[in-house]
Amino acid sequence: MKKKKLIENTASHFAQVFNAQPAHIFLAPGRINIIGEHVDYNDGYVLPAAINKYICFAVSANDSGEVNFVAKDLSDAHHFRLSDEIKPIDKMWANYMLGVLSQLKEKGLRLQGFDVVFSSNIPMGAGLSSSAALECGFGYMLNKLFSLGLSKKEIALIGQQSEHTFAGVNCGIMDQFASVFGKKDHVFKLDCNTLEHDYHPADFTEYSVFLLDSKVKHTHLTSGYNDRRREAAEGLDILKSKFPQVKTFRDLTVAQVDAHQEELGDVRYRRCHFVVGEIGRVLEAVEALERSDFKKLGNLMTQTHHGLSKEYEVSCEEIDFLVDRALAEKDILGSRMMGGGFGGCSINLVKKGAKKEVVNRISEAYQKQFDIEPAVYKVKISDGCKEYKKFKGAATAGE
Ligand code: GLA
Repeated sequence: MKKKKLIENTASHFAQVFNAQPAHIFLAPGRINIIGEHVDYNDGYVLPAAINKYICFAVSANDSGEVNFVAKDLSDAHHFRLSDEIKPIDKMWANYMLGVLSQLKEKGLRLQGFDVVFSSNIPMGAGLSSSAALECGFGYMLNKLFSLGLSKKEIALIGQQSEHTFAGVNCGIMDQFASVFGKKDHVFKLDCNTLEHDYHPADFTEYSVFLLDSKVKHTHLTSGYNDRRREAAEGLDILKSKFPQVKTFRDLTVAQVDAHQEELGDVRYRRCHFVVGEIGRVLEAVEALERSDFKKLGNLMTQTHHGLSKEYEVSCEEIDFLVDRALAEKDILGSRMMGGGFGGCSINLVKKGAKKEVVNRISEAYQKQFDIEPAVYKVKISDGCKEYKKFKGAATAGE
């Protein structure tokens, strides 16, 4: 669904449910990541960008002290009083927002009741960070609605914290940062330890990026993700005990990891080997992008996939198939799984003009193998969370 339609539908649903036009419309984007996977919580760098797929929020403050959440796409709702104790409930979608709200209350910020309807065109469970968009869009919206004075960085960190405490995923900061700090036509390199970031034009010249959705929903994401995080942290502790000057993964070389393969044990060794390699690859990828060396960039993306699949073990049969099949195409320079893994999408760097045929061939092979039709997403790189100021009421919404 296009952005304009998404806004219209969300606003008119609000009008139906609450018998009035929403006072504001906000948009929070999903993200892609060019390279730098599973290193945001491992002292690394990442290279993400916000995309033109959004969660749309239609909202008005009310003076009743009540909070009304309406999840249009799920035909579900959750109502409570602002003065109620806020804790996780059995509706996962609501928890992402409740986790944000509870932190705002803990900070002692002055809130009022409000009515909100949200709807999304970010495919769920596809690795495009719909949950970060929900957390961050919600935080961004409340910040504007009640003039809370939060910085963009605080909004991203609150979103991440909500994911940890109310959704149970000990995620890094990449997704929330991308949803808030995204910039049209730019990727950004984020130092996940300092949160310093710099933007780089997302100009792939005669190449472009597209996503293939395996349609495999990442059901093992929560446990698998938290396990990987723990295994990598355990590995780092062992390596720190061997090299006193090492404080973070960033201080390690592959040779140092190799030297302690035995003490690490097979699993922790492979996790750490991947992390140290991936941190280096992101830096090389940024240089390659700056030099417009897309062959190199594609090659690095593919190396990332091998590491994610064989060492970090977060891929799955279907995504491995999509990547292998993509790499058999001469017009594809690089392919890899994207995001948390265990399903979701692959990201591919393809020669412009060749995409259609290439996609047809990969889709056909995938369908034959798994009897699933993959979805293809061509994404545009967009701005981060924003109020949609052109909104003039449901009937005339649009750009
Ligand atoms: C998920 C997490 C991110 C990041 C990626 C993997 O999307 O939310 O923090 O760790 O997985 O790179």
